[in-house]
Amino acid sequence: MKIDDLRLLLDDMSIEEKIMQLVQLPGAVYESGAAVTGLSDLSLFEKYKKLAGSLLGVRGADKVKAIQDEYMAAHPHHIPLLFMLDVIHGHDTVFPCPLGQGATFEPEVSRKGAAIQAKEAAADGIQVTFSPMVDLVRDARWGRVVESTGEDPYLNGEMASAMVKGYQGDSVSDKEHLASCVKHFAGYGASEAGRDYNSVELSEYTLRDKYLKGYKKAIEAGAKLVMSSFNTLNGIPSSGNKWLMRDVLRDEMGFEGVLISDWGAIGEMVPWGFAKDLKDAARLAIEAGVDIDMCTESYAANLKDLIESGDIDVKLLDEAVFRILNLKNELGLFEDPYHGASMERYEEIRLSKESREVARDAVRKSLVLLENRDDTLPIKEKKIALIGPYAAEKNLHSSWALSLDPEKTVTLMEAAGESDDVNLFIGMNQGISASANRDKVVRVAKGSTILDNDSTTVIGTYTNDNFDDENASLLCEAIEVSEWADTVVLCLGEGIGQSGESTSKTNITLPEIQMELFYEMRRRAKKLITLIFTGRPLDFEHIPELSDALLICWRPGTEGGHGIWDILTGRFSPSGKLPMSLPYTVGQAPVYYNAFATGRPKPTVGQSSFTTRYLDCPNEARYPFGYGLTYSKFEISKVELSGHAISKASGNTITASVTVTNTGVTAATQTVQLYLRDMVATRVRPVKELKGFKKIRLLPGESGTVSFEINEEMLEFWTLDNKFDSECGEFKVFIGFDSTTDNEAEFILDI
Ligand code: NOJ
Repeated sequence: MKIDDLRLLLDDMSIEEKIMQLVQLPGAVYESGAAVTGLSDLSLFEKYKKLAGSLLGVRGADKVKAIQDEYMAAHPHHIPLLFMLDVIHGHDTVFPCPLGQGATFEPEVSRKGAAIQAKEAAADGIQVTFSPMVDLVRDARWGRVVESTGEDPYLNGEMASAMVKGYQGDSVSDKEHLASCVKHFAGYGASEAGRDYNSVELSEYTLRDKYLKGYKKAIEAGAKLVMSSFNTLNGIPSSGNKWLMRDVLRDEMGFEGVLISDWGAIGEMVPWGFAKDLKDAARLAIEAGVDIDMCTESYAANLKDLIESGDIDVKLLDEAVFRILNLKNELGLFEDPYHGASMERYEEIRLSKESREVARDAVRKSLVLLENRDDTLPIKEKKIALIGPYAAEKNLHSSWALSLDPEKTVTLMEAAGESDDVNLFIGMNQGISASANRDKVVRVAKGSTILDNDSTTVIGTYTNDNFDDENASLLCEAIEVSEWADTVVLCLGEGIGQSGESTSKTNITLPEIQMELFYEMRRRAKKLITLIFTGRPLDFEHIPELSDALLICWRPGTEGGHGIWDILTGRFSPSGKLPMSLPYTVGQAPVYYNAFATGRPKPTVGQSSFTTRYLDCPNEARYPFGYGLTYSKFEISKVELSGHAISKASGNTITASVTVTNTGVTAATQTVQLYLRDMVATRVRPVKELKGFKKIRLLPGESGTVSFEINEEMLEFWTLDNKFDSECGEFKVFIGFDSTTDNEAEFILDI
């Protein structure tokens, strides 16, 4: 439809029709008898259903088409409905959780993954995905860190931009793509004390310099929607924050798309004590420029009165409706209201061999090797025990893979069993596959349950009357298998419901029952390789020093088993790098690499009293941001600079180069990271900030040069003049393999 026609359509709509475009209903209204959150009066459903402009959570091409047909036929202007869903890290083919994707340090992996998610979801009837989540995260207590790509603004921005491009392709009208909704604007990742839905206090300096950058990148990549966050930002709930939404998001960042509230967030301004009632909340939200009210009746029940009484200008309504109509038009819904949804096509493309291969590649690249004593990995032994609750676990996704079928997930046990050279057994007896010409034997034992008895889960409490008996017999079997084996691969991790929304924790250790298993295995195993499946950084207690190798597997998704087995057996060398610092203990939270030095930096050697420190723990992370081993060894040369000054006036750049050499015996990929530090400024600057990264694959003995171009823009920060600018003076450039690198050189910025 032409823009002028959209305007004519808008002019012809009744006020009620317009208001209802701004209302999003939960898909549960179509499930008979389903309890629906958000709407107080059940009898209103039927009325709202006829005109509400969008639906959340309905999928299935036939179902979507039937709802669309009925809706459009009854709608006075036959305007199509919009169908939205959280397609976060997979629809059918599920990729590593976003935190795992961050660990790839390879935006292209996320772009390809998002494109596959879009293709599967679009065929299944979805038009908008609530992804990517670009919230910068520093606090492992917050369960939603699993949905972020980590603690660094630059890495987050690169990943978010790639995801938006993957979901949206060249045009959202293309039937294989979705419109992407960036969330949660803004600062949700800084929830105080890591407690979900809590308030956020951020100085404008930190907000601008760190937290807003990722969202900005996603918006620049063309994201069609933005979601307002649940939290307050410096005392103001985002959905009612006019400065944040109109001045920053719209005027400064130039966002022209649809702004949707998070679920119920407009209504939540009442319990926050920011709005008197839902009517007041509706006024505040529309004034702030929130276009769609997700699942409350603030807009549906109050906007008409607010307009008629003159409390709000009808122009605010019209501009919101126009943005929504425009999105529907961009998606091509006026021509094809199903956006290509088709059962046949969905069946044909879902979980294709090619998609699985992309997911498997993503898993391999996301795994982070933290320890590998005496080259324990890759596995060389022939008698291998796969032990632990994740050895044969199908739930390798996160709580945000809403539409996958876990049965389609490849477990580690299944991946091992598929290998040509493996005879697979469960425990000491039951053979799954056996053939004389295979030289490896893999035995599998669960060892323990995932959760402790009485663990809190997102949906309630996990209790098991036979907990002790069950675990005693699981442990017995695991002991027998471990004593038989030459090497034990111990697969531990958090439960699927232990990270995600509403899963904040004050204790980030593994469940006790798994730690008991760990110590038993350590006592018996000749070699112990520990794998950790997790959606958040954990306090590993004594696992790192007591394991011969330690590999972080995140929540790896559908192809988890294959990707991990590829790494364990040495088909590929690991290359993942930590996107979030891993702490020693929860007491350090938040711990992140790009912090300030303080006026009393702790000396690296010698006396440290009266310097910034803990008495009982290092300041630094146990494993720093950007860290991760490969199966080879790398050396890096000193940083060479093409010049020693950038002049603001001339706009010249400096090239910083290093030579990287693979000094080991295995071909491997290393991620070379560029960090900068502004030595003296009118505002204290972080000790290091990531400004670039490049991967280099080298054969044993091979060397390669990696270069980065440094320009003036990379030196900018949010200054006292309330703008991004650079200041003349000295800078340090660091190039290395993680954020602790001291491989540095100096340059200056001149007028
Ligand atoms: C609440 C979550 O905060 C948000 O991320 C999600 O997109 C919506 N619910 C819709 O499911």
